[in-house]
Amino acid sequence: MRIAMIGTGYVGLVSGTCFSEFGIDVVCVDKDARKIELLHENVMPIYEPGLDELVADNVKAGRLSFTTDLKAAVKDADAVFIAVGTPSRRGDGHADLSYVYAAAEEIADAMTGYTVVVTKSTVPVGTGDEVEAIIRKRRPDAEFDVVSNPEFLREGSAINDFMRPDRVVIGTEADRARAVMKQLYRVLYLIETPIVFTSRRTSELIKYAGNTFLATKITFINEIADLCEKVGANVHDVAKGIGLDGRIGKKFLHPGPGYGGSCFPKDTLALVKTARDFGAPLRIIETVVDVNDKRKKAMADKVVAACGGSVSGKTIAVLGLTFKPNTDDMRDSPSLDIVPALKAAGAIVKAFDPEGMEEAKKLLPDITYCDDSYDTLAGADCLVLVTEWNEFRALNLSKVKAALKSPVVIDLRNVYDPAEMRETGFEYISIGRP
Ligand code: UDX
Repeated sequence: MRIAMIGTGYVGLVSGTCFSEFGIDVVCVDKDARKIELLHENVMPIYEPGLDELVADNVKAGRLSFTTDLKAAVKDADAVFIAVGTPSRRGDGHADLSYVYAAAEEIADAMTGYTVVVTKSTVPVGTGDEVEAIIRKRRPDAEFDVVSNPEFLREGSAINDFMRPDRVVIGTEADRARAVMKQLYRVLYLIETPIVFTSRRTSELIKYAGNTFLATKITFINEIADLCEKVGANVHDVAKGIGLDGRIGKKFLHPGPGYGGSCFPKDTLALVKTARDFGAPLRIIETVVDVNDKRKKAMADKVVAACGGSVSGKTIAVLGLTFKPNTDDMRDSPSLDIVPALKAAGAIVKAFDPEGMEEAKKLLPDITYCDDSYDTLAGADCLVLVTEWNEFRALNLSKVKAALKSPVVIDLRNVYDPAEMRETGFEYISIGRP
């Protein structure tokens, strides 16, 4: 089997590399010549644990290659995956499909023989129909099918999510395409991974329904955490107490400063738009979007309150800037709301993130970036923990206390133990815990 992966962003690069690990010949294509050049030198465009080794191994084995030449990659491929970006369109929040459609046109011009065109990018319901129409128009006689095969990769654990998924979803009505897809996922069949075959439109909707459900679960526990603070209850015990009910499930009930990242904010918004367009508004998801947006901003108020009602002239040490640990991704990170709000309230902000600072400097230019955690804390009026990197969990609390000017810690990820923090002499504020 031979496949072409169009787009070497997060999804394309991880999926292409993992398919090659499954023994399939993969050519990854990108328009960005510099990116391809760097990939040839085994320099990854993203930070993802284990990816560079896996790329190197498969390149060495001759199963994985990188090119800017889409035509050559698509020619003779059994399947061509579209894994280009679908960002939120400025102004209306709909998914911007221009990259997907442009890729479809180029694929149409380059494919030879029967080809399965697979959309891996997250695309609104009906996009597969449009991709099919674009290709059919340019190549009326071509033999091809368009399949939806959404990804469920979490940044930071994307390789494991691809290799050992809870399920694979494949949307197609065509038997011939189904046979090719089965062959591509042969390795997962062997380990008895559930494979959900369904219609293309259903598959497209599964992706959005999954992500918006998870965003709802997080937002639910975040609001319960707020209530816990008011009534003197512990949100972790609530999460455990409800999560042990198999119908609810334990995962994605960790409270925090609001969800961010490249998927949840964009996908919730896009589904809200689609649902409105089709006259079936999703009022729960609309509320989730609104509650999450407000929550990120409210986190700055929490810091101000912890600092006695004003942060004007105070120095605030922020640990963690990325939307979650083990990534350098800053997209829709809560830090992008919290830090500007603190600055607007007159604070001086110092920050450190293990992987995200290069990106953060572009988005939050006028704060001080430090070399490590203790350097960030030195002389600050309080510590605000925004992202739960392991190295922040492992900080020496006595050293933290000695470094800070006043021992105030606002932990937006609940990584520390309240009793231990109190014993060490901190004024400790976390999320939804007495
Ligand atoms: C998500 C989906 O999990 C994945 O299936 C999809 O394909 C892409 O989007 P990702 O964005 O990488 O993956 O991160 P994820 O681990 O799901 O976290 C998303 C956000 O929710 C982060 O901001 C995280 O901090 C937050 N979160 C997650 C919580 O606040 N609480 C939780 O319990 C879980």
